[in-house]
Amino acid sequence: MKKQEYFDMGIAQGLSLSQIESVLCNILQVSQTKLFTLSEVSSKYIYEIQKVFFDISHGVSTEYAINKADFYGREFFVDNRVLIPRNDTEILVKQALIKLNTTLDISNTVYIDVWTGSWCIVISIINEMFPLKFSCVYAFDVSSEALEVAEKNKSSLALTDLTLKKSSLLESAFHDTNVSNKHLFLTANLPYIKSGDFEHMDASVVLNEPDWAFYWW
Ligand SMILES: C[S@@+](CC[C@H](N)C(=O)[O-])C[C@H]1O[C@@H](n2cnc3c(N)ncnc32)[C@H](O)[C@@H]1O
Repeated sequence: MKKQEYFDMGIAQGLSLSQIESVLCNILQVSQTKLFTLSEVSSKYIYEIQKVFFDISHGVSTEYAINKADFYGREFFVDNRVLIPRNDTEILVKQALIKLNTTLDISNTVYIDVWTGSWCIVISIINEMFPLKFSCVYAFDVSSEALEVAEKNKSSLALTDLTLKKSSLLESAFHDTNVSNKHLFLTANLPYIKSGDFEHMDASVVLNEPDWAFYWW
């Protein structure tokens, strides 16, 4: 089947060119450059591609439809149990790395990422710092469903010990002997939406993303 026919199919369903490209690259497992050079695409992919086009045209976010989101130069598995990592959150990672550059005693520092979601923050920071090692690293989230998604992102992690725990706020840290007498380095992208604001949010966010990622539980 001609690649252009897949593009025509996506356009007919209201998808943008970049959404179609993301879907095709993801399903065919090729880079954007490689996709550009293809003229034919095997028709064995047609049902899979049609399904994803259908989902997106019916309001599913592209990232959830292809189970992938880019964050700080890496790909993360996402589905509707976690927030889609936002570009704005990359600022938090950048600032944390600047701060860590001036932290002298990393090996005596415990790093905790609270409200961890997909693990996008903690994985980005650890990979950017690799091979520098913290004394230990924890990622906490109150949602068991979010923790299941985070586990799937383990393979993107540079070798290090990282403990993922179900915890409301920092409660698990208080009972942990590894944390006492150590410096603490915390990152947190807090749930930031007031309940009354939800109705003013973009429909794709309200329909797709878990409300527990936006509210404080
Ligand atoms: C705003 S998202 C941030 C996710 C991720 N860190 C990011 O930046 O994309 C918030 C996450 O906090 C979790 N959460 C909400 N209330 C919590 C609480 N009391 N304690 C721990 N995690 C909580 C939610 O389950 C959700 O995964």
